[in-house]
Amino acid sequence: MNIQSKDFIFTAFGVSGREDSVKERIEAFTAELVDEFIYDTTGSLICVKKGEGKDCKKIVLSAHMDTIGFVITYADERGFLRFSEVGHQPEAYLLGKRVIFENGDIGVIGIEKKEHGDKITKEKMFIDIGVKKKDEALNLVKIGDMCAIYSPYAVTDNVITGGWMDDRVGCFVLLEVMENIKSVPNTVYFLFSSQEEVGLRGAKTASYSIEPDAGIAVDVTASSDLPEGDILGSSAMGKGAAIKIMDKSVIVQKKLVNYLVGLAEKNGILYQRDVSRIGGTDAHAIQLNKSGSFAGGISIPARYVHSAGEMCSLEDIQACIDLALKFCENELPF
Ligand code: CO
Ligand code: ZN
Repeated sequence: MNIQSKDFIFTAFGVSGREDSVKERIEAFTAELVDEFIYDTTGSLICVKKGEGKDCKKIVLSAHMDTIGFVITYADERGFLRFSEVGHQPEAYLLGKRVIFENGDIGVIGIEKKEHGDKITKEKMFIDIGVKKKDEALNLVKIGDMCAIYSPYAVTDNVITGGWMDDRVGCFVLLEVMENIKSVPNTVYFLFSSQEEVGLRGAKTASYSIEPDAGIAVDVTASSDLPEGDILGSSAMGKGAAIKIMDKSVIVQKKLVNYLVGLAEKNGILYQRDVSRIGGTDAHAIQLNKSGSFAGGISIPARYVHSAGEMCSLEDIQACIDLALKFCENELPF
């Protein structure tokens, strides 16, 4: 695994509904690796690797391309921009942060004067793009333009940190699987989904057209191992691939949980059982597709999810790659 070799996936702009640049980069990188691309009008990209047998099962590995962000709603006379959120970001993570627009423009998030004890709300915040007047601002940024926290990724010996780990780290896992897959007993649909952060919208339409027998969402899960931190669930950074059992949006079928646990144990892959009190993933949309599918998750534990400093362990990422590979390379037994 070499993060820098897929630098492009961690640096592409892609707020929900505006994932084109992520999609183009994935398409260019995977052209030789898959048999077919399927495009979806909600914005997803599906890369198909055809199974070797006749009538083989259809499985999905999904990772969402979009990140949370902001949409511009108003410019005042001095060119300060008001915004609404695209997906949810906690207020405490925002002040003083830089944002980047699709055209590369940079702004900084500021806030109105607050009295002692005032709540910090997004309504009091604005984005400053360093101009003097309204028309100057609107020449650079239009009402409805989107931006995201600008926090380029960095890698150490142990971890990767940055603003868009959710879910570019999942996209990275899928790309690694595509590069390393050896046998294909199932047809694998690598689903790079759109608009996950605003309600799993891309995964919904994509699973309708794929009709998978089983699907796995590869996404981050909140790591609950901080000093005096909130206990958000069972998973912790550095303890391996988190096999989803339940979150706010899905209860994974026992058969699928046990199958993934078995694959991890048989292949000596470090794993943990993941129960989360918060969040949801594409697994929800896949499971409730048509008359229902098996759907679960292989998650990367992340600290500070939806902040500028989302942190994931490189060992956990590798464990997720290994487990997702085994899921693809073994014939789905149900
Ligand atoms: Co998220
Ligand atoms: Zn996510």
